[in-house]
Amino acid sequence: MTVRARLSHDTASIALGGKAVARALGEAGATVVPVGSRGLFWLEPFLEVETASGWRAFGPVAPKDVPSILDAAQTSRPHPLSLDRIEDHPFLKAQTRLTFARCGTVDPSSLDDYIQAGGLAGLKHAIEIGPKATRDEIVASGLRGRGGAGFPAGIKWNGAADAPGDVKYVVCNADEGDSGTYADRMLMEGDPFLLIEGMAIAGFAIGAMNGYVYIRSEYPLAIAAMSRAIAAARAGGLLGTDVLGSSHPFDLEIRVGAGSYVCGEETALLESLEGRRGQVRAKPPLPVHSGLFGKPTVINNVLTFAAAPTILTKGATFYRDLGFGRSRGTMPIQLAGDIKYGGLFETPFGITLGELVNDIGGGTASGRPVRAVQVGGPLGAYFPPALFDTPFDYEAFTAKGGLIGHGGVVVFNDTVDMAHQARFAMEFCAVESCGKCTPCRIGSVRGMETIDRILKEPDNAAQMALLRDLCDTMKSGSLCALGGFVPYPVLSAIDHFPEDFVAR
Ligand SMILES: Cc1cc2nc3c(=O)[nH]c(=O)nc-3n(C[C@H](O)[C@H](O)[C@H](O)COP(=O)(O)O)c2cc1C
Ligand code: SF4
Repeated sequence: MTVRARLSHDTASIALGGKAVARALGEAGATVVPVGSRGLFWLEPFLEVETASGWRAFGPVAPKDVPSILDAAQTSRPHPLSLDRIEDHPFLKAQTRLTFARCGTVDPSSLDDYIQAGGLAGLKHAIEIGPKATRDEIVASGLRGRGGAGFPAGIKWNGAADAPGDVKYVVCNADEGDSGTYADRMLMEGDPFLLIEGMAIAGFAIGAMNGYVYIRSEYPLAIAAMSRAIAAARAGGLLGTDVLGSSHPFDLEIRVGAGSYVCGEETALLESLEGRRGQVRAKPPLPVHSGLFGKPTVINNVLTFAAAPTILTKGATFYRDLGFGRSRGTMPIQLAGDIKYGGLFETPFGITLGELVNDIGGGTASGRPVRAVQVGGPLGAYFPPALFDTPFDYEAFTAKGGLIGHGGVVVFNDTVDMAHQARFAMEFCAVESCGKCTPCRIGSVRGMETIDRILKEPDNAAQMALLRDLCDTMKSGSLCALGGFVPYPVLSAIDHFPEDFVAR
């Protein structure tokens, strides 16, 4: 009898030699089931082997380990890379996996696998209760957009549903440009049908017949996984002229970005989707009133759409009962940078930053002390360990001059130069600016120059005051959050690490 082996084919696994492990498994006669990642990246390439008593996990696996692993799995002998039942691993056990419940356990190209693992129950329920009740569930769940701004998803869906017009669109923002983030990619590679189901629910709820998934070009495996899944969804009646027999038509197309951070901003994304240069549009009109091709459009992040099937399946109350303050449900938090246990940690909002970095992440991988943690991507503030009691919650982070963004947590050790990080923030803004407004286009360049002067002049008080002044102008005068939020990393670096802003 051939042995079945679930091997992570996630980008993280492939980058670490997963393909060679797959070859070694094939040569040893095992049947390889390609799956997504469980999100414990320090264990990639991660492998589970089917045994008489269930799946037994191993990682990180090299091709040379394969024969001894298969032998140990079949004979129940111990093995140095054995992790036994991965569900019992403390990193997974401490999580509440809703969005990522299936990731790493199902074949992402198999609609049958998805259905057997409970998929499509949310869409079926939506069809039973109708569009208005579906939107009511999303509103009642308290779901907020996971792309960064945290806008209530149900209100957005209602806005598009109520907007006049027969042609409406659903657009998924899978541009995922924030540093240290990978949840969108992991989901698209590991459980793409969940995103398709979420978008089909949104299409049904607002009366849209077409949707687009805008994926960054740096995600070739996600693009391939989504393309396969969309084809399988069409063949299986999940997409097409009569979605699951509802007589509601809905279909999806993929569009690939061209490597611009600002194309993650929703209106620049729409420009790009329409074939133009990705430049931010002034608002109003809001996309729900005039979005793609001037039609009412719901744009949500991958994780926002992917939360909808759970809400429809388990109920708005179940979802709303999880969380903290006005941040309801779970957040797939992504641990990165100098961290011992880097990976995806899905948990209800409310866990503190210190718990995430020290207890879950195990501190730094280098063993050096943590100096700063940047939460929320390149526009997020740097928090020192003194702020580690901050709960993961939109409002709590805002109150401390930060943001949670898309849930990226990047850890820096005590060798980091915070003046360099502040300069990098300005440089990033200068490179990625769409150029539409002056505070961002010019201000970011002046910001770099000012920080350069601060690091040259022994008496730099006047330049420090100028930098703060510039940050104020960028905050209040920028058209979008790229120029408007870049002061957060800069000012947090100055406020929490003033000792780094001295002449060298
Ligand atoms: C410069 C910039 C980059 C952004 N990049 C992304 C991104 O990569 N992915 C994303 O979902 N949202 C991104 N956003 C937020 C989007 O503009 C928008 O708020 C989001 O797609 C709405 O979906 P949500 O409500 O589900 O979060 C970005 C915003 C700005 C200002
Ligand atoms: S803030 Fe920057 S990215 Fe945003 S509209 Fe202005 S120039 Fe463009």
